[in-house]
Amino acid sequence: MSDPILHVGPTTPDTIHDLAQWLCQEAELAIRDRGRFLLALSGGSTPRQLYTLLAEPSWQQRLDWAHTLVFFSDERDVPPTHPDSNFKMASDALLSHLNPVPQAIYRWHTEYSPAMALADYRHHLTLDNTLPVPPTLDVVLLGVGPEGHTASLFPDRPVLDSEDIVSHTYVPTHNSWRYTFTLPLLNASRHIAFLVTGSEKQEIIDQIFTHQAPVPASMIHPVPGDVHWFLDSASAQRLNPN
Ligand code: 6PG
Repeated sequence: MSDPILHVGPTTPDTIHDLAQWLCQEAELAIRDRGRFLLALSGGSTPRQLYTLLAEPSWQQRLDWAHTLVFFSDERDVPPTHPDSNFKMASDALLSHLNPVPQAIYRWHTEYSPAMALADYRHHLTLDNTLPVPPTLDVVLLGVGPEGHTASLFPDRPVLDSEDIVSHTYVPTHNSWRYTFTLPLLNASRHIAFLVTGSEKQEIIDQIFTHQAPVPASMIHPVPGDVHWFLDSASAQRLNPN
């Protein structure tokens, strides 16, 4: 298990820029070595800034979206047009602006029954059963909630024990059903990239990096993959207080 790789930017824009640059490099390597880039986007609000940057014409040219397959590490169980949808946020900020469009965009089909939606996504993740279970995605973007949740893996929830690669789970604190990648899938990834910004996250970042009580975000240890943390100085404040 490799040590987490820390990228701390002085400001949020610096951190977003560093992650965008790293993402383009990983895409280039994946497409060179395997002919395609398997990327999972994260939800919530933080990544919107990254997606907006990647949608800029000068940045679009730096990532070969035509050979990129886009997944979502979690999704709220709402229609893709709903304001809470992670697909809608990523589509508005990035995907709808891309030309050429990605090789494939696999949104969670929330109009299906949960069982059908999970079966459909397992099929997409294994590229129509051509990849092993759990499949190895090249990059999975993730965020962290203030109590340490990531994707839709929340503390003290049965979903943390799932042996499946995807799950449909109820989140009481948010009164919402969600689809999510599980730990077996996340821990099969080639690269995990957390993007965490803002002083409101400094406490959870400190808790994760000082190995206090484990939270879902600290349970992700891909082998032989690695974990990158893209933090701004505000969220990393307690790691190097000087
Ligand atoms: C979601 C995300 C979730 C998010 C964290 C951080 O669907 O909300 O997948 O895991 O990454 O809640 O969210 P913010 O970036 O909004 O702080």
